[in-house]
Amino acid sequence: MRVVVIGGSGHVGTFLAPRLVEAGHDVVCVSRGEREPYQPHAAWRFVERVSLDRAAEEAAGTFGERIRDLQPDAVVDLICFQKDSANQLVEALRGNVQHFLHCGTIWVHGHSTQVPATEDLPRHPFGEYGIGKAEIEAYLLDEARRNGFPATVLHPGHIVGPGWAPLNPAGHFDTGVFETLARGEELALPNLGMETVHHVHADDVAQAFVRALANWGGSVGESFHVVSPQALTLRGYAEAVAGWFGRQAHLNFLPWEEWKSGVSGEDAAGTWDHIAHSPNCSIDKARRLLYYQPRYSSLQAVRESVGGLIENGVVDAGFRV
Ligand SMILES: NC(=O)c1ccc[n+]([C@@H]2O[C@H](COP(=O)([O-])OP(=O)(O)OC[C@H]3O[C@@H](n4cnc5c(N)ncnc54)[C@H](OP(=O)(O)O)[C@@H]3O)[C@@H](O)[C@H]2O)c1
Repeated sequence: MRVVVIGGSGHVGTFLAPRLVEAGHDVVCVSRGEREPYQPHAAWRFVERVSLDRAAEEAAGTFGERIRDLQPDAVVDLICFQKDSANQLVEALRGNVQHFLHCGTIWVHGHSTQVPATEDLPRHPFGEYGIGKAEIEAYLLDEARRNGFPATVLHPGHIVGPGWAPLNPAGHFDTGVFETLARGEELALPNLGMETVHHVHADDVAQAFVRALANWGGSVGESFHVVSPQALTLRGYAEAVAGWFGRQAHLNFLPWEEWKSGVSGEDAAGTWDHIAHSPNCSIDKARRLLYYQPRYSSLQAVRESVGGLIENGVVDAGFRV
């Protein structure tokens, strides 16, 4: 199939384009051309690169046509955040594609209710990002089920991979937290450290997209979580990371307001967003219908990423992991 990947050179695209090529697809990567994939891969030689600014094309009302003119059999949309954006594509691609795959987020659930959360739970999203993604999910599934538009929605967790900083055990992105744990120094965690995060390796997200494409009948009109097999508590995550460096985690648990005053505004906002959601999602449906088999646990994915940060000198931890 000719597969057009919109936003195909980022975290997910780095792994998705090579997987699609290896599966025998003709791949077109649409981006502004401002960045290269996180890792080189010989398969990129076979990928057609198309330079296009989605924001500018959408403003001109031409984005859908530009994608349709690429004559895709399937479209993977990795960078859609508003229902209006999805709508432009659907109207242009209706009757013109075999499969349309949208990248959502587990934030569509809002706060966790029953865990592990299943895809059929009522949505209670909060925050502009989660609300926008939930609207897109509802719109696309309605178009699929009512009007036969062949949409599938995949919801990744916190995407991890070599080349960028993973969400850390304090629930934000400051890589200094890994250094603190590696040195056996005290790390403060909010509350009891029992709130959860749910990572996924970018290559497992890519795997899920390729499997959804290969399983049209099981995936059209459906949404799927794409996460590692198990979420982590902040406490358990911190303890495991310290263990990689031969340390016992030296943790100090503080009430939220007190914890918040000890970190930057950016880190506090990041942690609040993550612990307010405290995701813990089931992958049973993806396993059953897509044959999704994640290669990485959360800790394996983070360990690989932190190992890369140590090798590149971004994290000074004294040891390799
Ligand atoms: N990151 C996470 O932890 C996470 C978690 C859950 C869900 N998600 C979802 O994953 C998706 C993002 O995937 P990602 O993390 O792989 O993306 P990413 O790393 O941010 O990469 C974005 C891609 O889109 C391109 N791009 C950005 N702006 C563009 C524009 N105006 N026009 C055309 N291309 C543009 C970028 O290349 P250029 O800069 O060269 O244009 C790049 O190829 C989103 O839908 C997000 O909601 C992410």
